[in-house]
Amino acid sequence: MPHASAPPDDPTPFNTDAVREVIRAAASVPGAMLPVLHAVQGHLGHIPSEVVPLVAQALNVSRAEVQGVLDFYHDFRRAPPGRHLVWICRAESCQAMGAEAIETHARNHLGLAYHETTADGALTLEPVYCLGNCACSPAVRVDGEIHGRMDPIRFEKLVEELRAETVTA
Ligand code: FES
Repeated sequence: MPHASAPPDDPTPFNTDAVREVIRAAASVPGAMLPVLHAVQGHLGHIPSEVVPLVAQALNVSRAEVQGVLDFYHDFRRAPPGRHLVWICRAESCQAMGAEAIETHARNHLGLAYHETTADGALTLEPVYCLGNCACSPAVRVDGEIHGRMDPIRFEKLVEELRAETVTA
């Protein structure tokens, strides 16, 4: 399963011609459905429903086929993500070193499941399977930055900082 891409630094507002061009550029390879959808998500930060017919037309498939792929892969966001993407590593090394406690903290204290966004729009929680930082497990990535040796207390502090940034931004 592909991993969700980070939102662009400056998500582009929806524009049909621009999205068509993103689709056209990614549609030239065989089996282009996933590359096309990733390209659109990289461009807009998510995949709004208006994109479904554009992709179907470009790839000469039915809207239902596009919708089926979107429904199958939870990594494709249907709504804009929060200002920050927080990825919790769920792979073996991090699991062995306490990633589950961080997940529990996120679930209980933030009220978030994976792929969900806090009500204040500060952050979206995503799972990831190895960040290449196993020596410092458990690891969390915030946007492009990896934080090793995470624990629930550090995680809570990190979340507070992200929320404060959102408020002052
Ligand atoms: S298993 Fe988590 S960083 Fe490798």
